[in-house]
Amino acid sequence: MDSILVTGNGPLNGQIPIAGAKNACLTLMPATLLSEEPLTLTNAPRLSDIKTMTALLQSLGAEVSSLQDGQVIAMSSHNLTSQTADYDIVRKMRASNLVLGPLLARFGQAVVSLPGGCAIGARPMDLHVEGLEGLGAEIELKDGYLHAKAPGGLKGAVHEMRFASVGATENIVMAATLAKGTTVLKNAAREPEIVDLVECLRKMGAQISGEGTPTIEIQGVDRLHGATHQVVTDRIELGTYMLAPAICGGEVELLGGRMSLVESFARKLDAAGVSVTETGNGLNVARKNGRVRAVDVVTEPFPGFPTDLQAQMMALMCTAEGTSVLEERIFENRFMHAPELVRMGANIEVHGGTATVTGVESLKGAPVMATDLRASVSLILAGLAAEGETTVSRVYHLDRGYEHVVRKLEGVGARIERIKGQ
Ligand code: EPZ
Repeated sequence: MDSILVTGNGPLNGQIPIAGAKNACLTLMPATLLSEEPLTLTNAPRLSDIKTMTALLQSLGAEVSSLQDGQVIAMSSHNLTSQTADYDIVRKMRASNLVLGPLLARFGQAVVSLPGGCAIGARPMDLHVEGLEGLGAEIELKDGYLHAKAPGGLKGAVHEMRFASVGATENIVMAATLAKGTTVLKNAAREPEIVDLVECLRKMGAQISGEGTPTIEIQGVDRLHGATHQVVTDRIELGTYMLAPAICGGEVELLGGRMSLVESFARKLDAAGVSVTETGNGLNVARKNGRVRAVDVVTEPFPGFPTDLQAQMMALMCTAEGTSVLEERIFENRFMHAPELVRMGANIEVHGGTATVTGVESLKGAPVMATDLRASVSLILAGLAAEGETTVSRVYHLDRGYEHVVRKLEGVGARIERIKGQ
């Protein structure tokens, strides 16, 4: 297994291009199942999760080709051969469950493995099931698989989700596009990736309004046609790299970044003493002077502070002036980066869903282990500012969500290299 060697050194300066959003692409790709006509995505990120979704769609009989070095994904599902998403693929990537709604809507049946647990939490699918049952689907759990059917087709309905689940919103919205009648989804998630999905579905002929608000209304149509859609910028990659100059000092321009994607996160950085300004090409981030100030964080559904940036923000708080309390409200086990940061000299106490970080002058490089996607990049950020060398192992986690991380950070002056595993 490869590892990444980071050597702490001074301020970073330059530009980092931000790719298309992993979490938008992972719901846009299954949308191809809703139509017999081709769907093409541009600005797609080059990530292992995208390869996993490609393999899943191909296992269903869809044609998926990756063009222009992976930045364009051309798909067509005019003659699918299966409606079953196997456990061996779904367990690797939970987002595989996003084929459930489209398959049910187009074919009236789907068999999708439950994803099983993952490092950051149990991540059940009860909200997906409740929403699709609300549209008339009959779903039962057998041998670890959800067997879903809607022989007479799905019917529009009013449904209120108990929690604003991102994935459940995506599955229900995609299913509702082909249901008979009108669906009103209440307490819907508001993430930019959902807005991006709806914009793509609308290009395919779907009749949807309210995306980005807690209530989304969908008028079912008989069929959807093909489209070409540009994947929205990745706000989590954006936020991650905004933290590089914040942690190391210096000034970096994030190309393609937009304030509207990271508003609550940018406000937190500003409170910590990091300046974030919009430029013609993206966002400019500079640490004003001296150490950043400790700030408290509570993760919430969008537009609140993103859970996917909690680990990275904790890395910044490790060398902040003062004490920061980070409360993780979305997942039940998303502090696995904390013990690794403690190995680097951080002062962190975790009690249940709350981590209390008392800033230290500086971290010390150490061998550390990535435990999940966002934890892995949090350790790299910490290593950028630590004294000495940090080796982050198990970087296959990193490859799931960050393309060319070494090249992007080297480009702004970081001393970082990938070490090939044995
Ligand atoms: C999406 O996961 C993202 N993944 C996650 O990003 C992100 O952390 C999460 O949304 C929250 O923003 C993709 O978009 C591919 P949820 P998702 O359904 O849809 C519970 C990353 O690092 N829940 O909003 O699975 C669940 O257990 C990944 O890129 C139920 O209880 O998130 C969790 O505690 C990690 N029942 C909470 O809701 C359900 O049926 C949020 O889950 C569904 C979810």
